[in-house]
Amino acid sequence: YKRITVKSLVDMKKHGEKIAMLTAYDFTMAKIVDGAGVDVILVGDSASNVMAGHETTLPITLDHMIYHASSVIRAINRSLVVVDLPFGSYQSDPKEALRSAIRIMKESGAHAVKLEGGKEVKDSIKRILHAGIPVMGHLGLTPQSIYKFGTYTVRAKEEQEAEKLKSDALLLEKMGCFAVVLEKVPAKLAKEVAESLTIPVIGIGAGNGVDGQVLVVHDMLGMTHEFNPRFLRRYADLHSQMTDAFESYTRDVKNRDFPSDEEQY
Ligand code: KIV
Ligand code: NA
Repeated sequence: YKRITVKSLVDMKKHGEKIAMLTAYDFTMAKIVDGAGVDVILVGDSASNVMAGHETTLPITLDHMIYHASSVIRAINRSLVVVDLPFGSYQSDPKEALRSAIRIMKESGAHAVKLEGGKEVKDSIKRILHAGIPVMGHLGLTPQSIYKFGTYTVRAKEEQEAEKLKSDALLLEKMGCFAVVLEKVPAKLAKEVAESLTIPVIGIGAGNGVDGQVLVVHDMLGMTHEFNPRFLRRYADLHSQMTDAFESYTRDVKNRDFPSDEEQY
């Protein structure tokens, strides 16, 4: 695939090719992620946590999301760029949801939007889809509802919540969403959902029976060393490498080792 589209992702599922997705919130990171061949870049509202230092995803605004998304879009050659609709920008009514999605598409140049929830937000999703904007769903542990859950533990372990998740996933597909993220749900349930849908299911903490995986880039790079969920595999230990670099720099400056003769004009 020279350039990933929403159609490429559905084709990948059909051919059994797994989908790799990572977050990015800025130009430099997005350029590296895109260059490495990651299929989908998510400008996640997790920027609220990893970029801005908030405890939850609730405070980030639509303007902030557009700022991050435009920075990412300027770096992209191949990846599909999906942008989260932030908390409060789509729940109150479908017209507001459409207005928010249109602002993201127009002002950042993103390729698709993502929003959390199933049946509760179905009119908003329909409105956005009718405008020709591709929508990715997000079910399971939806962080914008953290105060309803009261905990970040695994969702849909009980029958009732699992049944709702399954019917929400089917509804998202039926409405025309191009993919759905499942966050922190039992692997068995996620596999069952993935097998019942023709659109790709992208998991985070949802096991290996789904059609693709997503991680927060700062987590998988090992920059957030105090965050340790079971699903997180660290592909680098940037926290210690960066700490070493900053300590060496500080030492060199204090010792008058930096800059050397060759490093000045
Ligand atoms: O905001 C985010 O990073 C996300 C992913 C974890 C799916 O929604
Ligand atoms: Na998100």
